[in-house]
Parts: sequence; C-alpha cells; structure tokens
Amino acid sequence: MERDGARISLWQADMPGYVPVSRDFPLELFDVAIIGGGITGLATAVQLQKNGKKCVVVEKSTIGFGSTGGTTAHFNTFFDTTYDQVQKDFGKENAWLLHEAAIEALNTLESNIRDYNIACDFEYKDAYLFAKDKKQAEELDRIVKASQEAGLRIAYSGDILIDRPFEKAALIEQQAQFHPVRYVYALANAFEKGGGVILQGCMMESFDDDELPITVKTSSGVIHSRQLVFATHIPPGLNILHFRCAPYRSYVLAVKLKNDAYPGGLVYDMDVPYHYYRTQRIGGQQYLVFGGEDHKTGHDEDAYSHFGNLETYLGTHFDLEEVSYRWSSQFYEPGDGLAYIGRFPGHSENVFVATGFGGDGMPYSHMAAKLLGDLILHGQSRYEKLFDPGRIKPIAGFSSFVSENADVIKEFIAKRISIEKVENLDELAPGEARIIRYKGEQIAVYRNDSGILMAIDPVCTHARCIVQWNNAEKTWDCPCHGARYTVEGEILTGPATRKLGEIEMDVPAE
Ligand code: FES
Repeated sequence: MERDGARISLWQADMPGYVPVSRDFPLELFDVAIIGGGITGLATAVQLQKNGKKCVVVEKSTIGFGSTGGTTAHFNTFFDTTYDQVQKDFGKENAWLLHEAAIEALNTLESNIRDYNIACDFEYKDAYLFAKDKKQAEELDRIVKASQEAGLRIAYSGDILIDRPFEKAALIEQQAQFHPVRYVYALANAFEKGGGVILQGCMMESFDDDELPITVKTSSGVIHSRQLVFATHIPPGLNILHFRCAPYRSYVLAVKLKNDAYPGGLVYDMDVPYHYYRTQRIGGQQYLVFGGEDHKTGHDEDAYSHFGNLETYLGTHFDLEEVSYRWSSQFYEPGDGLAYIGRFPGHSENVFVATGFGGDGMPYSHMAAKLLGDLILHGQSRYEKLFDPGRIKPIAGFSSFVSENADVIKEFIAKRISIEKVENLDELAPGEARIIRYKGEQIAVYRNDSGILMAIDPVCTHARCIVQWNNAEKTWDCPCHGARYTVEGEILTGPATRKLGEIEMDVPAE
C-alpha cells in the first residue's frame, strides 16, 4: 500500500491498498463530512454512523496512507504527558477525567472490534515503565502516585520483560496493542457496508461554513454537509492550532531476533526522547517493534542516522538477526500537553477538529471519535472543556517554535535555472538532495536514482518557511508546521494544500 514516505511499515507491508466501493461522485446532502481517512476519521465516521448519521470520508491519498500506517499501535490509558504533569497543569479532577476518557476510548476500540468482527490481532498487554537511575526513579515515584490518584491500575514491579538494567519499574495493567492497518481497513469496510461514502484520492481544497449546509470544495467536486470534521492530523489552512502544535518525527524498527527474547508486553524507558518496545506476529514470524529517537520535523540534517542509532542501542541488549523494516512517522506535540479535540476555533459551531495527539495517537483517536460524536449527536460532551481547542494555557518551550525559519520566506521568482551556474552539484550523489543558492535565492535540488537532477522551490506553500531534506523518507519536510512533500513537490501531508513551485533546470548538452 502507499504511504507518506519512501519506507514502508510492518503493517503496510502486510496489506494491499484499500479498495473502496466504486460509485459516482456523491451529490446528496450529508449529515457530516469527515476530512481524513486515518484511524481518527474512520473511528469518528463509524461512531456517527452507528447513531444514524449519514457521513462521507474525504481522503487525499488512500486509507492508512499517513500516520495510521506508521504508528506502532500501542493503546495506552496513560500518556506521554504524565498524570503527574496533568495534575500540575490541569488539576487532579482533570487528571481523573483524562483517565476516564482513555478507558472510554479503549471501550470504543473494543466495541468496534466486537461489532464488526475485526481480526486485527487485538490483545490486552501489561505495560512496563522503567527508570534507569535515581533521578528517573524519583520521577517514576511521582508518576506512580499521580497515576494511582487518577485511577490507573499501576504498581511497582520487579521485572520489565526485557534484559536491561533498571533502578525501579512500574507495571500498568490492561493496556493494549493491535494491527492498525487491519483495523482501519475493517472500519472502512464496515462503514461502506453501512452506507457510508469514502472518497480516496480526493483533496479538500476549501470550505464555506457561513451558511448551512456547509460547502466543501474538493479536487473531485463539491460536497454539501451539515457538519464538518477535520481528522487530518493537523488541520489545513492557517489557524491558531498551527501555533499550538509542533511536528515531530519518530523512528521505528521491526526486528527478527536470533532467540526468543521477544517481550510479552509493552515496555517504555524514561529517557528523553523515550524508547518503546512491543512484539507483533505477522505471517508466523515474530517481530520486535522498537522505536524512539524523536526530533522536531525538519530539524535534523541526517534523519536516516536515527535508524542506525536505534539499531546500535537495541543491539546492546538483544541478539538481532535482521532488521526487517525501518520506517518513520510524524506526530504533533500539543503545546500544553493535551490534545485539541472539539469545535474548531475561528469557525462556526458546525466545524470540528482533532489534533495534537503527541505520541498517543491510538487512545486520542478514539477519544476524538467519542467526544466529537457526542458533540455532533448531543451538542455536548463531558470531556469538551478538557480538550477544548480554543483553551488558553501557557505553552512552555514553544516560543522558538513559532519564529523558527521565519527569516527565510522569499518566494523563488525565476522558474528556470542554468545548471552550469550552480556550483557543487556534481558532488550530489543519486538519492541525495540539498538546498542550494542560485542568484541569491534558495532552490531544493534532488538527484534521482537515474542521476537526473530535479529542482523545486523550497518555499512551503502553507506559511512560506523553507523545507528541509529528510534523507530517511526521501521527502521535503517543513520545519514550521510539518507539511511534507515528495521530490516532485507534491503534497504528502498537510497543512499545506498546494504543491511546491516547479523550477526547470537547463542542463547543458553533453
Ligand atoms: Fe507551515 Fe510549512 S507547514 S510553513
């Protein structure tokens, strides 16, 4: 199946592309149009459909193309933002409410699996969080105490399931794992069987919510709906949420071991960024799925090196036979630690959004399905205040994020360059790319595997930052709000809605 980069995940290698029911472009009025055919969009779509709503899902690429195909599908009821931190920033009651929301999300996942009889390797697993030194152990103590107060079933443990030294550890009961692409395909299938419409390869270009029904202009035609949900990881356009969420990349290996040391649960260390472990069996083969090395998108000159770092780290404690899959994925870190789910700031009360899931995409996707479902069906949700996208909270450490790259916003005017006048391009090997200067302007240049040079304007079409080369996925990534483009400048992931500008190269005759 297709994905948003050069590498394929363990899940995507296991599945062909999703083939939707073929039908003419829908002209009927929908209750809800959902933009984004990932796990959030489809979980929301089935939630609404179960309650009688007529929905259409609009997906720019294919089902499971983006983060759903790249996740490691840990479904936890604890979060990257610890209950300790949530207590401090949002209060004890809200930490309790967050845990309630997570339990409800897990119930929503389970009921989908049950209702639609989905074979997606869903399993409850214990999770282990371990501290490697005294400082981390003190932090773990705070986490355990606050988590227990929030209602999480967590206790100290003398074991962590993997052969690593540790100072202290905690066990969290009844967490879960599953195969995300099998799950999302089955949801898509059930949704279509129930009368839902999925439009793959259909990009939302604009919408008008001044009057009802909302008019949604797409690359395939115009849709009309009473309500509109953005489940696109980060919403398109330029809005306040782009300044409250920061894009990050995370790296994953799926590894075969020489022995049987595959952990029987979910394991997390407390490094910053932390590492995560789980086991998945596909086609009779076990894989250790191991990830980490997170960094801000577009802020690392050698993204590929993170795979090597993971392999070296893993090799110190596991007997590796083969690294079968290497892939990376994107997530959006929320500015104050909690996701933004609810009414979309700056739009009418009929437009909704879910974003800023951090590294907790699985629980948040189903929290979004429940919360947005309740807002649309009943006009309210017990969680709406906690996750209100319009809330104002202090955003620690994000001041530099907004201004990063703000000095490089000139659009490339000349659309044609002479290769003879560009220096050092001979050094560019096939598969490599670079931002070069030409007559005082910047140009993104990539040499493909056949040796042909391809040039594009590196000014991101979203808010005009300069894209950076990602040598792990062979993409141009924007460091400001995480838009990603192919080497031809086509959009892989939003928030951009237009491709990068084309530049022709005059190549001298041999
Ligand atoms: Fe916002 Fe590129 S994604 S400027």
